[in-house]
Amino acid sequence: MFEDLKPAPADKILALIGLYRADPRPNKVDLGVGVYKDSAGNTPVMRAVREAEKRLLAGQDSKSYLGLAGDMAFNDAIAKLVFGADADTARIRAAQTPGGSGALRLVADLLKRARPDATVWVSDPTWTNHVAILRAAGLQVREYPYFDADAGMVCFDAMLAALRGAPAGDVVLLHGCCHNPTGANLDVRQWAAVADLLVEKDLLPFIDIAYQGFGDGLDADAEGLRIVAAKVPEMVVAASCSKNFAVYRDRVGAAMVMTAKREQADATMSQMLVGARTLYSMPPDHAAAAVRIVLQDPALRADWQAELEEMRLRMLSLRQRFAEALRRQSNSDRFDFVAGHRGMFSRLGLTESQVERLRDEHAVYMVGDSRINVAGLPEDGLDELAKAIVSVLD
Ligand code: LMR
Repeated sequence: MFEDLKPAPADKILALIGLYRADPRPNKVDLGVGVYKDSAGNTPVMRAVREAEKRLLAGQDSKSYLGLAGDMAFNDAIAKLVFGADADTARIRAAQTPGGSGALRLVADLLKRARPDATVWVSDPTWTNHVAILRAAGLQVREYPYFDADAGMVCFDAMLAALRGAPAGDVVLLHGCCHNPTGANLDVRQWAAVADLLVEKDLLPFIDIAYQGFGDGLDADAEGLRIVAAKVPEMVVAASCSKNFAVYRDRVGAAMVMTAKREQADATMSQMLVGARTLYSMPPDHAAAAVRIVLQDPALRADWQAELEEMRLRMLSLRQRFAEALRRQSNSDRFDFVAGHRGMFSRLGLTESQVERLRDEHAVYMVGDSRINVAGLPEDGLDELAKAIVSVLD
């Protein structure tokens, strides 16, 4: 049965974890996978999450099944976190999923069921797993231009022009904030223009929000999504708690759908849950329960927000200091865009061979498309790192 199988190609992002671990050089720098790290290079359990876990351990009296949608109180809390505390959720339904990837797949399966011939338009570039998940659900994928690599900015006119040509009924996948891999984001005015276009051309927004709180703040990062939600009749959302609650390996996210009429919401949710039943039945509970406890308890919630804010501000300051170091070492403004980006990533615009040289000659690890994880930048070695980067430029 298996004799003809060749090894599957390694995932470009996840493969870096193993390569970095195997590198014996003491001065190695990990700018690879999108996991937050503190100044000591650790990814700690957040204080409020740890306290919620303690309460869970002390108070949980059953591990019986909760249902296909998981913890409904978690679902309610996460829908409000994303759509806003005052959002009218009568047309919105949320299902707890195993991480943001689980949410993406559940939404993708729902789209396939609702409109089998729809094409999903993704940004060029986008997170590599987007395309893989959409294709695994049997959906067609096309790209819209998004990033001007020379300027390090969104090429907004080209983006709008491409979306204007998309057939009615197609789906547009947008990054809610902190675009992965580029770090270049739409501003509020651009979000409003995209929302108008989606309405005019009858395109369905599919918003992936995996880094809420890592860019400009919890509400500011959801502003684009909320602008869209206020204008379009229906939309789908995949949210992740991996990063903003630092519960990566425990896997919790949410698939959400907003229907045109409130009478359609329950039927649509039930169709979304068919996907859950056939993929994994019920999502893992632990991290969702912890997140629910944090979001429902005012003191824990305030502490979580404070720690998240510390993380955000650390990344912001690191990216500003790194942009300055690059300016000093390159004697140019070529990398100034790093300071203007938001979230965990920036794409530096290096070639694959320059990225390889950085790894081989300087023990600096980044994704092959030159995406860096800002949280991995060495606080005390920014000039040294910038010098290494400049040394591999043509
Ligand atoms: C990333 O983009 O590095 C993260 O979202 C981790 C992953 O699953 O790729």
